[in-house]
Amino acid sequence: MQVNGERFLKDLHDLRQFGASGVGKGVVRPAYSAADIAAREWLAERMRDAGLEPRFDAVGNLFGLAPGRSLLMGSHSDSQPEGGWLDGALGVIMALEIARASQEAGGPAVSVANFQDEEGRFGVTTGSAIWSGQLPLDRADTLTDSAGVTFADARSAMAHLAGEPIDPARFTGFVECHIEQGPWLHEAGQAIGVVTDIVGIRDMTITMEGEQNHAGTTPMHRRRDAFQALSAFNTALNDRLRNIVTPQSVWTIGHVDLHPGAHSIVPGRVTFSMQWRDGDVGRLKRMEDVIRQTATEVAAERGMSLSFSGMLGLEPVAMDPGLRAALAAAAQALVPGRWRDMQSGALHDATNVAALMPAAMMFVPSIGGISHAFAEDTDEGDLVTGLEVMGRALSDLCKAH
Ligand code: GLV
Ligand code: MN
Ligand code: MN
Repeated sequence: MQVNGERFLKDLHDLRQFGASGVGKGVVRPAYSAADIAAREWLAERMRDAGLEPRFDAVGNLFGLAPGRSLLMGSHSDSQPEGGWLDGALGVIMALEIARASQEAGGPAVSVANFQDEEGRFGVTTGSAIWSGQLPLDRADTLTDSAGVTFADARSAMAHLAGEPIDPARFTGFVECHIEQGPWLHEAGQAIGVVTDIVGIRDMTITMEGEQNHAGTTPMHRRRDAFQALSAFNTALNDRLRNIVTPQSVWTIGHVDLHPGAHSIVPGRVTFSMQWRDGDVGRLKRMEDVIRQTATEVAAERGMSLSFSGMLGLEPVAMDPGLRAALAAAAQALVPGRWRDMQSGALHDATNVAALMPAAMMFVPSIGGISHAFAEDTDEGDLVTGLEVMGRALSDLCKAH
């Protein structure tokens, strides 16, 4: 199989034009936005040009199908509200190039997947969670984004493209390439990460309600200020979690809605996202207990009411040993000593697809470890090295079968 680095880089740059942010190489292409849908329609045409049959399912997951049974490769083309040009896009475009190169070489058959809402506008890896049967569609339809739009409404913007469901049984395995999104490969001057496992995640929304009042006349001791409650919660939580976490555990309050949000009003209500990740299910649960207990105590001390939303989550998942070994052997052959086994702290569609078939992942370096930001980037030489390692791994796999 002869992969074509120039053709691959051109497609990556062309995809970036959909939702290009104007800041560096950033993109704004959240799931179901006009830019996201236009990008998916463009990708469907690129799949057709590559001899694949493009098919959308009911939620806007796009597949480029090779005839008969095939290996599946891919990732996602939606972005964070402020995202980079490679997060997800790299895995989709690499899959397209491998499918083309493989056809030119007379096999093996490779199909391409482009999952919808991996970035979790509505949840956590929404499109692949639905396709893999882990998130029922009727539950997904009730999920809302941070502006209150439902998933059902958002996906109706792609209803005209929807076709029959795509049967997972036609695929023999799944391989996803992604940027690392962390600092380790770049810092070590390494070219490839072979993923051992993907951490688990828990995600929910917490609301604390006190009393909205005048910022000039309300004495400090009589306030039930929602911002002060959030601030106290965050400080207490950081202290308490330190006793039970490892350096790999992470927790984030990434979205805060402080009501009503005015300089001269003591805020009466705060709703905020609470997300945490770890590779160990027991630790995820212990972190949850600390989060709930701390919020309960802070709310009670300050006379606030408290509510927790339902919780979304994905379990930690190990990658398939056979596929991993093929990626590792190709990395050792092409970049000896410049690759490593590593855990993924980012979530990926491979987590969901692993419930259906053997799944594996490969990383290329992220400059400065930056991602989920316009500044995300990877040296183009490293992108092409990733393509070559992937091409070699797949050729070897197919020879072995
Ligand atoms: C996916 O982008 C994640 O949040 O890890
Ligand atoms: Mn991604
Ligand atoms: Mn992402």
